[in-house]
Amino acid sequence: MNLEAVLAARLAAAFEALAGEPVDPAVRASQHADFQSGAALALARRLGRAPRELAAEVARRADLAGLATAEVSGPGFLNLTVADEVLASPPPVAPPDGPGERVVIDYSGPNVAKELHVGHLRSTIIGDALARLFTWAGHDVVRVNHLGDWGTQFGMLIEHLSDETAADHSLSDLTAFYRQARARFDEDPGFRTRARLRVVALQSGNEPTRAMWRRLVEQSERSFLADYARLGTTLGPGDFAGESSYQDQLAPVVEELTVRGLLVESEGALCAFPAGFAGRDGRPLPLIVRKSDGGFGYAATDLAALRHRVRDLKATRLLYVVGHTQQTHFRMVFAVARAAGWLGDGVTAEHISFGSILGADGRMLRTRSGETVKLADLLDEADARASSPAVGIGAIKYADLASDRRGDYVFDWDRMLAATGDTGPYLQYAVARIRSLLLRAGTAPGPVTLGDPAERRLALTLLGFEPAVAAAIEHREPHRLAVHLHEVAVAFSGFYERCPVLRAEGPVRASRLALAARTGDTLRLGLDLLGIAVPDTM
Ligand code: ARG
Repeated sequence: MNLEAVLAARLAAAFEALAGEPVDPAVRASQHADFQSGAALALARRLGRAPRELAAEVARRADLAGLATAEVSGPGFLNLTVADEVLASPPPVAPPDGPGERVVIDYSGPNVAKELHVGHLRSTIIGDALARLFTWAGHDVVRVNHLGDWGTQFGMLIEHLSDETAADHSLSDLTAFYRQARARFDEDPGFRTRARLRVVALQSGNEPTRAMWRRLVEQSERSFLADYARLGTTLGPGDFAGESSYQDQLAPVVEELTVRGLLVESEGALCAFPAGFAGRDGRPLPLIVRKSDGGFGYAATDLAALRHRVRDLKATRLLYVVGHTQQTHFRMVFAVARAAGWLGDGVTAEHISFGSILGADGRMLRTRSGETVKLADLLDEADARASSPAVGIGAIKYADLASDRRGDYVFDWDRMLAATGDTGPYLQYAVARIRSLLLRAGTAPGPVTLGDPAERRLALTLLGFEPAVAAAIEHREPHRLAVHLHEVAVAFSGFYERCPVLRAEGPVRASRLALAARTGDTLRLGLDLLGIAVPDTM
């Protein structure tokens, strides 16, 4: 139940009767009461009336029976106190309703022969949380892992793999393999030529070349899946839809864009110039659809992928969970797709942008030797530092999900593993503590009665769960849920400090056990929607 919205709706009717037109009652959580409405102040000015008098009239007229009481305070605020019955027996937690959509969520998107690195970490964590949230809300979620498995760099990788002298290299360290191939490409002109021929062989379907390409892709997928399993993400083997899978759709895409007059030849390349995009020099910015050598790049693949998701997968909502550095790319792709008629008409695309993970020095997180951090190494360190993998990985995920995704954040082991504060372990600990409390109680929870203010505060905070989930979905901002869960854990601590549970007796004990159980259930569900595991004990 969204208490704020229900209260607002009830007050809205009273305000409208007085104003003669709809008024936003501006109901907000408040320090001074459970909720407060400040709308009478502005309305009184407009109607030339005394604010307190107007507020009192709204309070009299509003039908708040069984829900809350309203009282005028200060210069003309309405303080709303939620009825104890509502706090004591809230309706069961239910997903937001509304027609389910088919939602494609494009996330993780690592590149073959390059191991997952921290840059893909945020996409994977945020994308997975959104996939869980949208699924819970009744949407039909299609997870798409837009694997970078195509492009000219495969020429050198395959050539390196094919080479007798290098035949003993193991693919288990793909990053090292990539580096060796790169080094040979840079140093050896003969290798370079052979690598270029390999690109042609791959594109024209030469079977031995394709077989080696498949080996590289499969090996990479295996390593990504191992990382996903450790991270506890819901991405599976069936979710890979690599760039290569759109090969046969690239020519039709070019054709369709050409027919619509959207492509212009520029220096031998076929480009779209969507309106409103200019480079630093002020000249229109091209989205290169076909390169001058006839090849297709990242943008063409994304156009084909978008068209496929709308046309074949019948998605009405497309989410792309990719770092903010690709903002212009997605804006341009979406603009061209709109011009082509693939978007619009109830079909939306949105770039779910996020900031960078920074090191303690405030710059992009790197290893001591200045290299990009491999995800597997990061997870190893989490295991080494935390009491269990669930705690270490929960700490990483929570730190990522608890901050507004658009901003950067500093990766700080000590802060995110701290047992108190706004951390994953703190929330996990609250769940474990409640679990053990309920086990030790030996008796069943009973009806809730609210005596102590801390009990009221906890019950009221728990009612904020559904609006928090709804807001996380509506704004595609998992931190709105994370922040709420932290508030719940804090309210629980306040309650637990003031209100003895096991030492209480009779109905009071049963009521407190019920509040604890409700808190545990809420935290468990909320953490699950964020993809954070909860260990039984800590
Ligand atoms: N492989 C890309 C990268 O590592 C991310 C892919 C994102 N998804 C997309 N549809 N472009 O930057």
